[in-house]
Amino acid sequence: MKMMGSGGCVDCHGTNRNGGRLWPNFWQVAPSITATRLVGEHTQDSHGHEGYSAETLARAITKGVRPDGSSLGAGMPRWSMADEDLKDLVSFLLED
Ligand code: HEC
Repeated sequence: MKMMGSGGCVDCHGTNRNGGRLWPNFWQVAPSITATRLVGEHTQDSHGHEGYSAETLARAITKGVRPDGSSLGAGMPRWSMADEDLKDLVSFLLED
């Protein structure tokens, strides 16, 4: 998956997608984006959100919005990519 490679999601979300602090902007934290974490609702903690579906996840990646419609912080880039790539990325993230 090329988007997950160098220069993409792994730079901030990590190779295991467990997230972590950004460098040098260490006060920004990229949340875990494992499938379990994305699908599961966890609204109590920081980076809390309702469970993502394929639709809301695609929207989060391109428009920077959580399932409830609130905006993600500026630390998360808004991505533009071909529909096909976005579809592949979303199914990869939700299945694996
Ligand atoms: C420059 C660093 C950076 C890169 C690169 C990046 N992200 Fe993020 N991402 C973040 C940060 C920081 C947040 C948390 C924003 C916030 O706190 O509101 C985030 C949030 C998210 C969320 C929301 C998770 C949640 O808990 O609601 C998803 C989904 C996500 N990123 C997916 C991706 C994908 C997929 C890619 C690659 C196409 C990617 N990110 C690349 C920094 C990054």
